[in-house]
Amino acid sequence: MAAITITSDDAWQIQPNGQPLRGTIHVPGDKSISHRALMLGALATGTTYIQGLLVGDDTCSTAACFRELGATISDLNSDLVTVEGIGSGRLKEPLDVLNAGNSGTTMRLLLGILAAQTGRFFTLTGDASLRSRPMGRVVQPLTQMGAQIWGRDGHRRAPLAVLGQALKPITYTSPIASAQVKSAILLAALPTEGTTILREPYRSRDHSERMLQAFGAQLTVEPEEATVELTGPCQLSGQTVIVPGDISSAAFWLVAASITPGSELLLTNVGVNPTRTGILDALWNMGADITLENERMATGEPVADLRVRSTQLQGTTISGALIPRLIDEIPILAVAAAFATGTTQIRDAAELRVKESDRLAAIATQLQHLGATVTEISDGLDITGGTPLYGNALESYGDHRMAMSLAIAALNAKGSSRIHQASAAAVSYPNFVTTLQHIA
Ligand code: S3P
Repeated sequence: MAAITITSDDAWQIQPNGQPLRGTIHVPGDKSISHRALMLGALATGTTYIQGLLVGDDTCSTAACFRELGATISDLNSDLVTVEGIGSGRLKEPLDVLNAGNSGTTMRLLLGILAAQTGRFFTLTGDASLRSRPMGRVVQPLTQMGAQIWGRDGHRRAPLAVLGQALKPITYTSPIASAQVKSAILLAALPTEGTTILREPYRSRDHSERMLQAFGAQLTVEPEEATVELTGPCQLSGQTVIVPGDISSAAFWLVAASITPGSELLLTNVGVNPTRTGILDALWNMGADITLENERMATGEPVADLRVRSTQLQGTTISGALIPRLIDEIPILAVAAAFATGTTQIRDAAELRVKESDRLAAIATQLQHLGATVTEISDGLDITGGTPLYGNALESYGDHRMAMSLAIAALNAKGSSRIHQASAAAVSYPNFVTTLQHIA
């Protein structure tokens, strides 16, 4: 019996078949690293070669924007994608509005890059979800650098317009731990004369710092202080980037195998950068049986194979500095908590309210529809697990991580479920359904 089928009205029909999950999975390329490889490749001089690029809706949006800005990018589906760079302050003024689709990373990082393209004019938009998301968090520090940006809602929401300027360096303490804010400022600082210093309340993912260093930028990192310094102007030169598998995509299988009795999965070639492995720490705290094998480095990023076996999970607390290290995994962790004994408390996670959907409200209501005991609070969730879940009609809110998290929950419920707007999964994981059919 097929565990998951796609219906004609953009839904997934989930039919639990009681089978353990077994097999080997190659998860798709890391989304954050893929965006950055395309962007830095376009800003560098010379050719960048990218192996293992994620070809999802979000990275296709980034590639489309940079093609309009003058970069020559080969077919994204080829094994080795090439980007012919244009140089960091030399992007072309596009003929039309740039469309970032559903991708916050594309829009926020682009704002930093475009703000520094002296004398050129750009307009930017995205889908309904992205147009509702806060851009003031990057517009404000970029304006301090001298950027000229206009937009809806007091210049805080897309559509946005940018008139590139010669910027000045800043020292900026971000009120939130956000890799997108940090990266936008670093990218704006690249062609800017002088030293830009950036501090965060907690350390966010550091893929930009690693890749900028590899491309030749003058950048220093103080991990203990969550501080980064970049001295411009920097000339980047094209590199070879090997993109590891995305731990945020592996997370669905880590939880699925943990909660489905008798399961064992091997997830190969997964990025295990310590700024991203909060999901492993949280699941280990819950008693999960996950081991790292074959640990190695791939172009400056740690990589491993992850072996996961089913086990009875227990409730845990997830808060503070752990939050930015698992920010995108909270929906699937909430699913894990619904199958764990005891209560899981998630705190300090108000950022989830401004992701592709309000993920605190979305996961709380949808898990409640399955019969789980979930209380939503302003910055988190309380989830008391261990009671059986029952299949139901569910809503992804067009959010890729919601669709996939709900599929894993529904697979372990009694009776069938239908998840609406499920094709959103293609934003980060186009082969999710095929993979699930293969292992279930
Ligand atoms: C990302 C950073 C995170 C994450 C997003 C991707 C990135 O967002 O949620 O999915 O690639 O820089 P914030 O930096 O806004 O927390």
